Amino acid sequence: MGTLQAGAGGGAPGTEAVGCRVLAVGAAVPTPVVTNDRLADFLDTSDEWVRSRTGIRERRVAPPEQSLLDLAARAARAALAAAGLSGGAIDTVICTSSSIDTTFPALACRLQTALGCSLGPAFDLQAACTGTVYAAGVARALIRTGAARRVLVVGVEIFSRALDWHDRGTAVIFGDGAGAMILGTDADPGSDIVAVRLGADGGGADALWAADYAQVAIEPEVLAPAMAEPPRNLGRVVRMNGREVFRFSTQVLERLVIDLAADGGLRPADLALVVPHQANSRILATAASRLGLPPERMVQNVDHYGNTSSASVPLALVEAVQDGRCQPGDMICLAAFGAGLTWGGLLLRWGPTPVALDDPRQHETAARLAQIDRAATEPTRAVRER
Ligand code: UT7
Repeated sequence: MGTLQAGAGGGAPGTEAVGCRVLAVGAAVPTPVVTNDRLADFLDTSDEWVRSRTGIRERRVAPPEQSLLDLAARAARAALAAAGLSGGAIDTVICTSSSIDTTFPALACRLQTALGCSLGPAFDLQAACTGTVYAAGVARALIRTGAARRVLVVGVEIFSRALDWHDRGTAVIFGDGAGAMILGTDADPGSDIVAVRLGADGGGADALWAADYAQVAIEPEVLAPAMAEPPRNLGRVVRMNGREVFRFSTQVLERLVIDLAADGGLRPADLALVVPHQANSRILATAASRLGLPPERMVQNVDHYGNTSSASVPLALVEAVQDGRCQPGDMICLAAFGAGLTWGGLLLRWGPTPVALDDPRQHETAARLAQIDRAATEPTRAVRER
């Protein structure tokens, strides 16, 4: 991995004050909660170790019947409802996931159909935990060049189906969830995406990688109160050099916040809030301290969701807004980092932007989603079973 230099953002900051803003944000999480103690039933770990090293207390794990499309659609519907828009108002869909269930068709295509979006482009983008910020950067560029008007960006993870549940170095870290952002040109002089920074350094590719996404739902036993045996959801290969990624993450988060603040003519201390990728509470605390930010201005929800990869930034943003921590006019920095190695951030001038967390009691579209999903994934199963 190369050394990060001052201003290394890997793209034009783009500080022109016109155009694209975040119209709404939505999120969704599976209902089942898996605590550290439950993982310690089959892994050589403990609640104390996981809490003290990562800040994580529990995570959500999707039950076998929940699909990636279902979770993505719930987050997207929450964002659409918050914006007061129907699916037809969306002309471009970008999905991003580190635990994708089909190589093709793109999840974005299935989501476009499920939501009844216009027949514009729909594609998946891979940038691991930086995915949603990358996708928002791409969406903004499309909007500013007139190629799109309203773009739906969804980061969604069912990481529990991509983990090696015998690897305590990764199994305790990741969780399932989804976050959606709608970006558009709709007039609101009060809010704006002021700057975007995206970057990557493939020299660090082997620090965090995954292959073989044969999707097998986590065994129901993992959700049961006690587990004598580990779940048989094995064979996934997510591997991480934790220390190396930790070093990179701390360094790049600090750099991103400094550079994005500067793009807006600000210092980090002028930011009302930083909404970072939720990888580890120690990374966030270290970065806050180096930036001179009081801890309460660095949003953290890793304790109850773990690391939800591409979903984590919108999920944290939704919670921050619902807690009244984002007010119109506030300058807010979103910052993400992850495998690639990749990094990316947005500087937002917050408007009266609505957000919503999916209400899990609303299951009205489950049957239709299952139908779309079956059509897309059944050939894959048939090949695997041959
Ligand atoms: O989302 C993308 C970005 N991801 C990140 O930013 C993650 C960055 N890395 C991290 O958050 C941390 O490196 C981890 C949480 C993954 C690991 O924490 P660490 O303090 O760096 O631990 P370590 O890997 O240096 O391991 C220390 C010890 C080792 O034992 P020995 O060799 O010292 O005897 C590990 O085997 O802790 C052991 N260990 C565990 N022990 C109990 C590793 N995982 C566990 C575990 N429970 N789950």
